[in-house]
Amino acid sequence: MLNIPVVLGTIREGRKSIKPARYVLQKLIEKNIESVLVDFKELPLPFFDSPLPPSVLKEKYPYPNVQKWSAIAKAADAFVIVSPEYNHGYPAVLKNALDWLYPEFDHKPVGLVGVSDGAVGGARIIEHLRPIMENFSMFAIRETVMFARAQDAFDENGALLDASYDKKIDGLIKSLVFSAEAMKTAKKNS
Ligand SMILES: Cc1cc2nc3c(=O)[nH]c(=O)nc-3n(C[C@H](O)[C@H](O)[C@H](O)COP(=O)(O)O)c2cc1C
Repeated sequence: MLNIPVVLGTIREGRKSIKPARYVLQKLIEKNIESVLVDFKELPLPFFDSPLPPSVLKEKYPYPNVQKWSAIAKAADAFVIVSPEYNHGYPAVLKNALDWLYPEFDHKPVGLVGVSDGAVGGARIIEHLRPIMENFSMFAIRETVMFARAQDAFDENGALLDASYDKKIDGLIKSLVFSAEAMKTAKKNS
């Protein structure tokens, strides 16, 4: 069984990205994939302040919540990041969470899902994240989903109103599972 957590990129009060994130979580679970929603509102992380970079910390983190985030990431076979685009980039909360870890991400694929309340759907954050994923030796799969006008895509209970997203998320998960299985097998044999 694969383990693919959904990492939510914002803690903003009233964030619209929570609905796409919960939707992706539900889709993963429906497909018998182990998953949790990693919400840094519930798991607040301090700003990165370690004198040593995570690449040499050897997973010895000074804060309990960073240790919890590390354990979730370590157990993961792949990730889905669901995040809004803030000022054409990634929210600081997301970048801070990524900066805290390093070995946990090694050779794990990631699916990128952008969110916006306008027409862009987070296209720019997705492209900004790709080189960061590369630095972790992660593999950002080609398939992405951009929730443009996210407020119109779900009802107040989080049910999907725009059925076109269902197919897109299915495609992203299919590709992510393929890459996760391939990388898991390759690691086992290496
Ligand atoms: C600080 C900030 C910056 C933003 N910058 C952008 C942006 O660059 N591009 C964009 O399409 N939307 C931008 N938005 C609007 C988001 O698309 C909007 O907040 C949307 O609801 C998705 O994010 P949410 O999960 O924060 O609600 C910004 C919102 C905030 C709060």
